[in-house]
Amino acid sequence: MNVPRLHPDTIEQVKQRLDIVDIVSEHVVLKKQGKDFVGLCPFHDDKSPSFSVSPSKQFYYCFSCGAGGNAIKFLMELGKRSFSEVVLDLAKRYQVAVQTLEPEQRQELQRQLSVREQLYEILALTARFYEHALNQSQGKAALEYLQNDRHLNQATIQQFQLGYAPGGWETLYGYLVEQKHYPVALVEQAGLIVPRKTGDGYYDRFRDRLMIPILDLQGRVIAFGGRTLSDEQPKYLNSPETELFDKGNTLYGLDKARATIAKQDQAVVVEGYFDVIALHAGKITNAVASLGTALSIGQAKQLFKYTDSNRVIFNLDADRAGVQAVEQAVGKVVSLAYQGEMQLRVLSIPDGKDPDDFLKAHSAASYQDLLDDAPLLVDWQIQQALVGKDLKQSDQFQLVVVEMVTLLGNLPNPTIRTHYIHRCAELLSQGNSRMLQQIEEDLRLQVRGQRWHGRSQKWQTPGERTLLEESEALLLRLYLHSPSHRGVIVEALEAQDLEFSLSHHRFLWRQILDVERSDQGQQSLDLLSLLRDRCTDFPREMTQVYALFELNEKTERDILRAELGIRSAAAAIEEVMCEKRRRHFLDLWKTTDLVINAELGHHYQQKWQSEVKRIQELRHQREVNFLDLVNVPIVGES
Ligand code: UTP
Ligand code: MN
Repeated sequence: MNVPRLHPDTIEQVKQRLDIVDIVSEHVVLKKQGKDFVGLCPFHDDKSPSFSVSPSKQFYYCFSCGAGGNAIKFLMELGKRSFSEVVLDLAKRYQVAVQTLEPEQRQELQRQLSVREQLYEILALTARFYEHALNQSQGKAALEYLQNDRHLNQATIQQFQLGYAPGGWETLYGYLVEQKHYPVALVEQAGLIVPRKTGDGYYDRFRDRLMIPILDLQGRVIAFGGRTLSDEQPKYLNSPETELFDKGNTLYGLDKARATIAKQDQAVVVEGYFDVIALHAGKITNAVASLGTALSIGQAKQLFKYTDSNRVIFNLDADRAGVQAVEQAVGKVVSLAYQGEMQLRVLSIPDGKDPDDFLKAHSAASYQDLLDDAPLLVDWQIQQALVGKDLKQSDQFQLVVVEMVTLLGNLPNPTIRTHYIHRCAELLSQGNSRMLQQIEEDLRLQVRGQRWHGRSQKWQTPGERTLLEESEALLLRLYLHSPSHRGVIVEALEAQDLEFSLSHHRFLWRQILDVERSDQGQQSLDLLSLLRDRCTDFPREMTQVYALFELNEKTERDILRAELGIRSAAAAIEEVMCEKRRRHFLDLWKTTDLVINAELGHHYQQKWQSEVKRIQELRHQREVNFLDLVNVPIVGES
């Protein structure tokens, strides 16, 4: 899009509506600290929160990398976008009428804005249409279902604007298009009608369904969920993503829950629409639902805007209990919990019920009791690892250990990790204080092994370091100078899950990815010159990798046999990692008391043996490549 020059009035109006805390917290997890907020800086690889946001000054600043500015600058830097692009987006979002300095552009923009307005209007009208139908004779079965099966009273039905989509293929279509004269294209954009495959005309998306409007934070209808009243599949049909409906950032019920979430400093996340409705009807009004998918980081951040301590209780449907189930349901959000950026608790209702079922048989107060007792994620996961296991059986004991080690290895904070290692050792030793110390020590060593990835430079011999330095440099140099091999290099890295180990190489790789990301879609990407431009920002780091920007006689030859080089380098990098792991497991095996802990010893032995096997494969691969290399006639060499 050609971005127009905006009228100063428009810029001013957007600025007036902007709130820096709102904007930043959509991208960064913020915690309140005195008058300000702090979080991890999104502009550099921040380990401890050095990024601070001041609501009174409407300004952000990173004490570590020096980034700073107002909300508009923040969005510009983050998305690598121009001032006008950012302001224009914000104008749409806050419904500020856009004035530009050029009149023709103004018309086009007004048109774009009014599309959104008309979509809101169409959806609002549709919600009223469905509500009305619920109270007609055609909606009788749906209404009875709400009253009898769901035990909902009139006030709740009205509060959630529940409705009924009549049967028939063109009921809503007839109403919106023929009667109200809305353009067909807009009604389709609103997600309400679907074009027929035959190409002639449209039909209603929602037919003979109980309709649940999904609202945004301003209480405007942006989408619908429709539940079947029969056995038809799917059970719930939802609006597609539209201009107004961004699933990954929407939570069902947040418009009604946010005040209580703020007051109680805690949110409850459930899985279903009716769980939210039933909880609100039972006066538990801090409940929201995640719209049938795993809770996304975007959704979690929506919640964090209202809870200062980022406290969330996730009500896991118990038919999915188990450690993996919660990780699936909470998706990437678990990493926020492991990092201590949120307090995530888990509730799974004992006899396999969801909150809605539970409330049919129990009082809201007993649900509140369950909430109050909900354990923290890690405690819950440790409990789950023990469910159904008999620690007296050594094979089951070993399984629990492996599961615990995996869990403990996820915890990046050493203090928290030590705490939980001790806790697990207590559980495993079952009151045998003589065993406790030995088990705790074993766990500690295993967790260290688990956590330790290729990044650690420990256990590296000088020979390995040279091999790594050369192989990584080769890959990077080829990437920079031979655009046609970039795909192969990325594939080789991804296929073997390789990372650059040396910090200056890691730095350059990050810069490359950054440049490519911000320059997406532009054909004429001149990586080298864009990277050179970046040098001015990072003079210190760039000096270490600058040599890779130039070619000499030898390195020019590398480009001619790039494919071989890539294969050899990837194999060499993997070999160094395997070698480190082999030594690590061998050390563990040596220090394990094989009399007390035969199983564990066996486990380590298997681990180091499988590394040995892989190392042999890789060596062989490198030798073959080397032979190829020798045989390849080099162009330009006689
Ligand atoms: P569930 O299937 O777990 O059921 O869906 P529920 O909410 O308890 O359904 P009821 O009580 O039988 O009515 C949980 C949520 O997953 C989404 C919906 O948001 C639903 O509320 N979902 C489920 C869909 O989007 N589509 C489906 O087909 C099923
Ligand atoms: Mn249910």
